[in-house]
Amino acid sequence: MNKITKAVFPVAGLGTRFLPVTKSSAKEMLPIVDKPLIQYAVEEAIGAGITELIFITGRSKRAIEDYFDKAYELETELEMRGKTIMLEVLRSILPTHVSCIYIRQAEALGLGHAVLCAKPALNDAPFVVILADDLIDASPGVLAQMIKVYEQQQSSIVAVEQVAPHETGFYGIVDAKKISTGLLRVEAIVEKPDPAVAPSNIAVVGRYILTPTILACLEKVHPGKGGEIQLTDGIAALMQQEQVLAYQYQGRRYDCGSKLGYMQANVEYALRHPEIKNAFSSWLEARKA
Ligand code: G1P
Repeated sequence: MNKITKAVFPVAGLGTRFLPVTKSSAKEMLPIVDKPLIQYAVEEAIGAGITELIFITGRSKRAIEDYFDKAYELETELEMRGKTIMLEVLRSILPTHVSCIYIRQAEALGLGHAVLCAKPALNDAPFVVILADDLIDASPGVLAQMIKVYEQQQSSIVAVEQVAPHETGFYGIVDAKKISTGLLRVEAIVEKPDPAVAPSNIAVVGRYILTPTILACLEKVHPGKGGEIQLTDGIAALMQQEQVLAYQYQGRRYDCGSKLGYMQANVEYALRHPEIKNAFSSWLEARKA
């Protein structure tokens, strides 16, 4: 059986919904309390057994590479000052058994194109794709849940959740038939349909397990919604050749690509952060009064 060890992180997006902060910094580096969004995504991947992280980067994304690099000067400084706890925090950002590959996506041609950029690093093996702006609070993590399903099913799987019917235009939407609790067979998939024509309100969220056949499919996909090469269209082509499943995960998602979701995540994670939870919760309570 093919064990999945590679994760693709498309991080080349322009982050226009978070301008002006994303003018010169990556949206994936926005913090939820004190850790950047990309760190949560990487931790979820590592928790699912992933050992190779493939970042598809673009302009203004240098901070991501720096973040996962060893910071010699900072570490020496912290060592000299005896700040051992912070030193440990820095050193645990990336466990030593995990490696990173960075591939530049020269032009923002779409999510499908970003995934295709990872091809040289994928060696014809199944892989996962994680969109860091979908932060999902779950234990075990959503990817670990999905890999368990993959181990039984050996086919591509997209994570899904029900959204309000008027929100279909923000997501890939599937038409799917139930196989068992939480597991569906995808019969159609459409990128961001208007509510009037959406096949359902079951939306794809940013976690995918894909067989390598997707790469050949993406190579043939024409620009779709928004003039971009869409991963959704690649998956629609993949379905013609292989079974694709939809998995209704256990967990709570925060859409950190939106300001509201991002702020909600910050509040929830602050309320359980060991350093500030008590003070923050007292402050929140006092505000209500
Ligand atoms: C992308 C995908 C979409 C998916 C969504 C999940 O859209 O194209 O199919 O439902 O991620 O977050 P984006 O949010 O990047 O516009």
